[in-house]
Amino acid sequence: MRATPSVRDNQVVMQTTIESKPFEQIEADALIVLVFEGKREGRFRAGELFDAGELTGKVQEFTLLHHPEGVAAARVLLAGAGKPEKFDSAELRRVAGGAVRYLKAKSVKRIALALDPGQTGAEYVSAAIEGAILGNYEPDRYKTGDDKKAADSFVVVAPVAPGLEAAVRRGQVLGEAQNFTRSLVNEPGNRLTPLKVVEAARQMASEFHLECEVLETAQMEALGMGALLGVAQGSAEPPALIVVRYRPETPGGATHLGLVGKGVTFDTGGISIKPADGMEKMKYDMAGGAAMLGAMQAIAQLRPPIAVTAFIPCVENMPGSRAQRPGDIVTAMSGKSIEVINTDAEGRLILADALTYARRQGCTHLVDAATLTGAIVVALAHLNVGLFANDDGMRDRVLAAAKSEGERMWAMPLEDDYKEYLKSAFADLANVGGRWGGAITAAIFLKEFAEDTPWVHLDIAGTAWIDEVKPYLAKGPSGVPVRTLVRLAMDWKD
Ligand code: BES
Ligand code: ZN
Ligand code: ZN
Repeated sequence: MRATPSVRDNQVVMQTTIESKPFEQIEADALIVLVFEGKREGRFRAGELFDAGELTGKVQEFTLLHHPEGVAAARVLLAGAGKPEKFDSAELRRVAGGAVRYLKAKSVKRIALALDPGQTGAEYVSAAIEGAILGNYEPDRYKTGDDKKAADSFVVVAPVAPGLEAAVRRGQVLGEAQNFTRSLVNEPGNRLTPLKVVEAARQMASEFHLECEVLETAQMEALGMGALLGVAQGSAEPPALIVVRYRPETPGGATHLGLVGKGVTFDTGGISIKPADGMEKMKYDMAGGAAMLGAMQAIAQLRPPIAVTAFIPCVENMPGSRAQRPGDIVTAMSGKSIEVINTDAEGRLILADALTYARRQGCTHLVDAATLTGAIVVALAHLNVGLFANDDGMRDRVLAAAKSEGERMWAMPLEDDYKEYLKSAFADLANVGGRWGGAITAAIFLKEFAEDTPWVHLDIAGTAWIDEVKPYLAKGPSGVPVRTLVRLAMDWKD
């Protein structure tokens, strides 16, 4: 049998550059030009279309002109960018993504985008490149047809200014890191087992000169990781705790940021088995872990001044004959005992031990990301990541990073009173908290293991997967919250 190439060997690469020539002189198969609502576009003989109402400038409206007059490019794509006062780098990211998707469907290969004067700063350049790379991605590796379409190159056209080359590189690094995360998340459970995540992590780490260490069952037993091992025991696939380390040449301070990501390669629910309907989606239950690997790939290249270590507990949650039962009591590495009321609440169990391990490894600040609860989808739908924090400063840092990166997050409550719901008659904690406030009680459970370390928990169950294709993004994994994590590290000040 022919070996399937690893996820990393299967990445589509798009060349990205910046050019400072007047846009009229740019040679490309298509040149994207932004059109704003309420601003009549008269160039390229588009005035007629505008007057007829065919061209309005609404967001994600695309109008393709062939052999446009006065430009060297073979086509001009007028890309609606919405109301000028609402336009920002996040909107540009989506417009660039939408335009690339529109063009690649027509087999256009060499694409350029002219930035509008006044919107040519580094944030805009990076966002345009990211959007293009994200839009160019298709989760089609298992389709065998020869009609796969992707653009080859993307040029941003903007006047020369200091820092723009770096902005191109940042956009490229971030776009590719997110696509790496997305391709991992999209792998099905039969092809991406915990040991395959290990392989992908090792390959990424060696490519980008990061240290990678993997704890296997025996080591986890020796460390007393009973919560993690309890989840793993129902599957024939062995678990792993992946540790990826980045160290700056000259540390800017004493901070050591730990990134902890849920890596359940498939979640059947275990003995508390999930309904069949929609269960296939549970291959994305490792999206938190995949986001940490994507973030580390970008961090390795952008080199923030702080130490960052990712911890990814990887397991498959299966109802095998050795599976843990409801009512089982496990002892976590921290020493706390847990009554497993519902084996489908497995994410918090593996994260409990990973958080404890991260603290013992010297992390001074922690962020975890996990597809943790259906309840967060009920609370925030698919628009916002649910953010929980035990420390206001840490919460504000992550919210600020998310805002700059256009990844929407919403702060949720985490008062101690909620701990009541996790009372167990027989152990220190129960792993579920009853019917109400499920995302909050899950976060309260994790808080017991973050202890006094400043920590943020991101529940990405509603945002890591896009059910309906967007004009700027394929259906499937979104890559959230890679950009926020990288920005958090890059902007860190002690
Ligand atoms: N992986 C799921 C959470 C999830 C649900 C992610 C929907 C994405 C979409 C998690 O392991 C789980 O099953 N949580 C349970 C917890 C419950 C048993 C307290 C849930 O949310 O139903
Ligand atoms: Zn579950
Ligand atoms: Zn799960």
